[in-house]
Amino acid sequence: MSITSPSPSPKASSPIGVFDSGIGGLTVVRALMERLPFEDILYFGDTARVPYGVKSVPTIQSFTKQITEFLLEREVKLLVIACNTMAAVAADIVRKLSPVPVLDVIATGALAAHQASRRRAIGVIGTPTTVNSNAYALELHRLDANLRVYSQACPLFVPLVEEGWLEHEVTRLTAREYLKPALVENIDTLVLGCTHYPLLKPLLQDVVGRDVALVDSALATAEQAAALLDAQKLRNPGHKAPSYRYFVTDVPLRFQTIGERFLGRSLGEVERVYW
Ligand code: DGL
Repeated sequence: MSITSPSPSPKASSPIGVFDSGIGGLTVVRALMERLPFEDILYFGDTARVPYGVKSVPTIQSFTKQITEFLLEREVKLLVIACNTMAAVAADIVRKLSPVPVLDVIATGALAAHQASRRRAIGVIGTPTTVNSNAYALELHRLDANLRVYSQACPLFVPLVEEGWLEHEVTRLTAREYLKPALVENIDTLVLGCTHYPLLKPLLQDVVGRDVALVDSALATAEQAAALLDAQKLRNPGHKAPSYRYFVTDVPLRFQTIGERFLGRSLGEVERVYW
C-alpha cells in the first residue's frame, strides 16, 4: 500500500526553481534576478541533452518530468518553465506533478503580446517543436479569438546565438529570410518564443523596424513571477544577498562563456548532476 503524504505548502523563504533544456533559460534567470533581487534561485539546465527543439514530443515530456521531480525534491516554492519547447509540449505534465505554482514562458509571453498588439496581428518565432505544437497560437486565441497569428520556426537562430553571432551579417540575412512572410502580413508585435532570441533583440528590431513591438517572454515571466509571489504572499521576507545554484547535466566546451553571455554576469559555481 502506498501512503501519499499531503504536499507541504510552499514557504516564502524557499528558492524559485527555473529550468530549461540548456543554458538559454539563463535569460529568464537574469530577468528574475533583476525584478526579484532578494529571491534565491535554483536553475536546472539539461546541457547533456540539449537541444530539445528538434526532439519528439514523448522524449521532451519524459525529460521534463525528470527535471520537475528534481526541483520539487529541493522544495522550490515556484516552478518556472523557462524553455519554450518544454512549455509548448509538457506544461500540463509539470502542472499535474507540482504542488507549488507553475509559470511558463508561453502563457506569460502570449499575455504580454496580447497586451502589446494594437492591430491584433502577431508574429511568433520559435524552435520547430514549439511552432509545430501551435502552443502560442492556441494561447493567443484563448485570449482573443480574433487575433491573427503568424508563426515561423527559426531553427538556425539557436546555433547562431550560441556561436555569439549576435550582430553578424549571416544572422541578419537569416533573420530577413525567416521574417519576410510575417512582415508581409503587417504584424505589429513579434513574440521571441525561444530562450535564445532575446539576445538577438537589437538585430531583430532592426530587421522588423521600430513599428513592431518585440515581446521578450523572459521579462514578461519575471513580471508575472513578482505578481504571483505577491498575490500568494510568497515573497522572500529576508533582504540578504540571495543564493543562486546552477545544476547542469554536462559542462560542454565554452559553457562558461556562453552561460555568462545569457546571464549577463559571472556564473559562479556550477553543479554537475549525473543521470
Ligand atoms: N530552450 C529552447 C527553447 O526555448 C531552445 C533550445 C533547445 O532547442 O533546446 O525553445
